[in-house]
Amino acid sequence: MKKHIVLLPGDGIGKEVIQSAKDVLEAVAAEFDHSFTFETQDIGGCAIDLHGTPLPESTVNACTQADAVLLGAVGGPKWDRLPSHLRPEKGLLGIRKALNLFANLRPVKAYPHLLHASPLKEAVVSGSDLLIVRELIGGLYFGTPSERSVDGQSVVDTLAYTKQEIEQIVDKAFQSAQLRKGHLTSVDKANVLESSKLWRETVEEKQAQYPDVTVEHMLVDAAAMKLVTNPNSFDVIVTENMFGDILSDEASVLTGSLGMLPSASLNQASVGLYEPVHGSAPDIAGKGIANPLAMILSTALMLRHSFQLEKEARTIETAVQAVLDDGYHTADLQIENGHKVGTEQMTKMIVELIKSQS
Ligand code: NAI
Ligand code: MG
Repeated sequence: MKKHIVLLPGDGIGKEVIQSAKDVLEAVAAEFDHSFTFETQDIGGCAIDLHGTPLPESTVNACTQADAVLLGAVGGPKWDRLPSHLRPEKGLLGIRKALNLFANLRPVKAYPHLLHASPLKEAVVSGSDLLIVRELIGGLYFGTPSERSVDGQSVVDTLAYTKQEIEQIVDKAFQSAQLRKGHLTSVDKANVLESSKLWRETVEEKQAQYPDVTVEHMLVDAAAMKLVTNPNSFDVIVTENMFGDILSDEASVLTGSLGMLPSASLNQASVGLYEPVHGSAPDIAGKGIANPLAMILSTALMLRHSFQLEKEARTIETAVQAVLDDGYHTADLQIENGHKVGTEQMTKMIVELIKSQS
């Protein structure tokens, strides 16, 4: 299979973990006889420095023409004082919108060897395996007006959704549940928000099309509590943009580190964007200690969702599991009697396993 992949390293550890992704994909290509070509483009803070904008047109064009896009992370203290339309995060929001990536899939899995790395009780975390389906291009992060009054004394942000926008993300979530354990939890704030009432109505209507999926509605505050008290009660969670952003960072506690969470952002066609959930981690950037597994697991999601290469995706996931089972981990995971390794060594071990597994 021939595929062209755009790499958007971005800033901080984004640049370090994207190299891991490339190494892993090159190993997969060699072992399974595929041809992957790569092209690197700028986004975020580095794009501001080089082009005066967090999202140059050349980046958007390259992504539109690619078979898939891999993104590291954007941002850092260097750009924190810029006006909001010029911040690195605008690049990220911009590319999601430009590619119409409405569905953000965030699988969260507690690996057996990382149970001690979570501050939660082992009995609570053990066995948890859930998928957060977050709406990605609507809601509070995109609604207008979003502005401060002339006198600076009042502000407004807008949470807006159309029924069609809710339907397409809810369909994606039902379909994801069909491929998993068949249970969907729709998270909203329907006791207060008008947008959540339409959300809940839409889920109830859609339910008839998916009789094999059981549905539960949960208020977001209750869901936040249940995620850390009874995570095993979830299979697929579907929710609006900001709720999904917050709940997925919270869910990272189950895995022991933000550095373990991959994500896939999809549209109706096949050009997906794949990125770790974490940010550019300025506190550890340049030290060679970033956990590359969230990025590497994101490449597995790319092979699965954009290229339908299920066997290759599983090979990567199995390699990650095996390295963890052998006790290897990066510094972000607190594991007693483990073997601490850096970004490069962790990547090398995964690559070697891919070579020996196929
Ligand atoms: P962050 O995710 O970058 O870091 C939070 C904490 O987790 C830090 O202590 C960091 O060292 C650690 N961490 C994160 N990923 C790690 C990994 N792979 N390996 C080891 N440790 C890891 O979030 P923070 O500190 O709130 O934001 C830093 C910058 O990143 C900001 O400029 C923020 O706007 C940006 N950001 C970008 C995102 C993206 O590009 N998707 C998402 C979140 C934040
Ligand atoms: Mg976030």
